[in-house]
Order: sequence, then C-alpha cells, then structure tokens
Amino acid sequence: MTQVPSLFAPFQLGGLRLENRIVVSPMCQYSGVDGVVQPWHRMHLGGLALSGAGLVIAEASAVSRDGRITHECLGLYSDAQTEALASLLAEIRSYSSAALGIQLGHAGRRASARSIFARSKGEALPPDEGAWQTIAPSALPVSTDWPVPRAMTEEDIAQLIDDFTAAARRAGQAGIDLIEVHAAHGYLLHQFLSPLSNHRQDLWGGDQAGRNRLLVTIMERLRALWPREKALGVRMTSTDWHPDGLTMDDAVALALQLNAIGVDYVVMSAGNLSPDVRIPPATPGHQVPFAARIRRETGLATMAVGQILNGPQADSIIRAGDADLVAIARGMLDDPRWGWHAAAALGVDIDYPPQYIRARPNNWTGHAVLRPQTPAVTTSRQADRPASGLWDRPDTAAPR
Ligand SMILES: Cc1cc2nc3c(=O)[nH]c(=O)nc-3n(C[C@H](O)[C@H](O)[C@H](O)COP(=O)(O)O)c2cc1C
Repeated sequence: MTQVPSLFAPFQLGGLRLENRIVVSPMCQYSGVDGVVQPWHRMHLGGLALSGAGLVIAEASAVSRDGRITHECLGLYSDAQTEALASLLAEIRSYSSAALGIQLGHAGRRASARSIFARSKGEALPPDEGAWQTIAPSALPVSTDWPVPRAMTEEDIAQLIDDFTAAARRAGQAGIDLIEVHAAHGYLLHQFLSPLSNHRQDLWGGDQAGRNRLLVTIMERLRALWPREKALGVRMTSTDWHPDGLTMDDAVALALQLNAIGVDYVVMSAGNLSPDVRIPPATPGHQVPFAARIRRETGLATMAVGQILNGPQADSIIRAGDADLVAIARGMLDDPRWGWHAAAALGVDIDYPPQYIRARPNNWTGHAVLRPQTPAVTTSRQADRPASGLWDRPDTAAPR
C-alpha cells in the first residue's frame, strides 16, 4: 500500500480532526460594512473552502468597534455580525467539509487606519475620514506620522478581556470550529508583548511575565469557555527584527505558557510592530525555522506561514517535522485550487465537488498538458463510484 504524503495525512488539532495539513491563512478583505460579512466574503471564503485545504480561517475580526483596523474590517461584537457569519458558515458547510475558523483581534494603536484600497503602505485615517481615538499599552505611536494612542486604564483592560470572551461566545453561536487569537503583526496584543511598545510598570508590563499577562489571561478565559472538541490557537510573533524587541527566546517562553493553559496550536509569524525596522527579504519558507523551534522546544502543535508556495515544498515541511500545518495566504489568492494542485503534484486523489469533477486530473486530458510534470493520480474516490453519466466520464472532446 502506498503511503499518503505527509501533507495529506489527517491531523488532530485539539478536538478538531482536519482532513489534511493545508490551511487557508486569515486574510483581511477590507470589504465589510459595519463589521458585517458581505457578498464578497461569501465568494472569497466560499471559494477557498473548495481549495482542497482542510481548514479555512476567516480574516482578523475585531472584538470591538474601535478594535477594527479600518472602517471596512469585519467584527464579531454585534448580533448582525454574528447572524451574517452564521448564515455564511451554514452555506459553506452545505458544499465543503473543510473546518472553518476565525481570527479574533484588536488593532490597538494601529486601528483607525485607511483601508488597503486607499493606501500603499499603511496610513492613519485623517480626522475628516472618521478617525477615532486609539488605545495601546503605552502612549507610544506606531511611528512619528501616526497619532499618539491613549494608554489603557485598568477598566480598558478589563473591558478588552470581556470583549474577547464575548466575541468567542459569538463565534461559537455562529458555528465556528476554531478560534485564532491575533497576537502578532503589530496589533494590540503584540503591542503588549513587546518591550518596544509596552513601557508600563504595572501588572500588565515591566518584565516578560507582565508583558505576556494580558494574552495569557485572555487565553485562559477563552480556554475555559471554548469547547475542547473545537480548537484554539494564537498567531504569535517570532521576532520584532529589532535589537531591543522580541526574540525567539521570548516566543519559546510564551509558547510554553500557552501550552500549559491548553492552547492547541501557535502559528509563527514575525515583524510589523513598527515601520522603523529592517526586515530581511522574505524567501520561500522564511518563517518555517521559527515554527520548527517552537515545535521542538515546547511540544505545541505549530503552523508555519510565509511563502509556502507549492505542494512538494509544503509536504517537505510537514515530513521534516518542522510544523504540523502549513498556512497559505497569497498562494491561495493566486490559485484558489492550491490544494487540488498540491494533491496532483504529490500523486494524491482528493474529493472534488461533483459539479467540478470533470476537471479532475484523470477525467481531463487538459490537466496533463497544463501540468506535464505532475505524476498520474491513482484514483480511489469518485472514479470508483458508479458513473453518473454526467460527471464520472473519461475525458471527451465534446463539451456538455
Ligand atoms: C490580503 C492579505 C490580508 C491579510 N490579512 C491577515 C489577517 O487578517 N490576519 C493575519 O494574521 N495575517 C494576515 N495576512 C498575512 C497572511 O495571513 C500571511 O501570514 C502572509 O501573507 C504570509 O503568507 P504568504 O506568503 O502565504 O502570503 C494577510 C495577508 C494578505 C496577503
């Protein structure tokens, strides 16, 4: 019997069984209205739920109105947002078996920004475009051209913890399988973790334990309410790429804390705390060593992200034991059938929806022309079903 390539081996993530190791990484679409999903999200997430990925994670969704990055970001703090998300998830589940997650976050001092459609590099909203007062651990702006945030009070911190728990409850009501808390990319929880942006001397700052306290407290609260048969994770920063910022040693210490409280996985990203740092150029798989170190030293399940470009590369990451899962972002936008093509490249037969089955490699000679290097796929699934006459026919020239 031939061995299933590592990328297509099922994985038990917390209480959630994933069909394979491919994850659609969360991607802000800046297309919400009052934080509510729109037809664009139905198309975007619905399409990616047919990518062949075992898990699709919806974009960073704010736990409060002022926690949105832009006016166009999604939120999970109102009934309208929860109901629209629930209906979208139900629709997707009618045709896809992918697990469906959501990323929850708060932008902190990087809130009140222009949407990506209006900016090239990230830019604060001017007052006449509905800018709002931002909050952060300390009154330190992103950079000199950003407004100074208000340092959070004890009440603000208590409110934030409540907002995360309320959003998690809403995620449960909507039918979400997995919550990923956003603690990277320079947003509020990352701002608390990093000594560059957290200058507090109270319980929520000072030493590493103090700076980690807010994220750890939120994760404890979420662990207590989020069902064990689902999954709970954190997007973490591996390094601030700054001599005085967070390093991988800090990440290992935090991951050990998260593991101890029962967080199911971490995804290792990096950078973006401030525009004033020099980040090395991104190369294929550039953040994989971060995930590998966390997996090796903490025993936590890890997800690798960043320029994971094709099936063979992704398979080698899983096979080497560098990560348990791979998250793909831009590659999925470029090729929304990324998982199908990864499967074909690795000689694996995966399910296609019946409506699309005539595009399966073995049903369509065009596949061999487009991807001549791809090995023949041994079919064991739909091709073995009784031919319906419409779907499971060998390739013919005549279009139907
Ligand atoms: C359009 C777009 C939106 C993104 N939005 C988010 C987001 O909501 N949350 C997040 O953690 N990362 C976000 N990212 C980062 C990706 O999830 C991913 O970490 C990054 O793009 C590197 O992976 P890639 O090389 O496969 O694109 C976004 C990336 C893109 C391209």
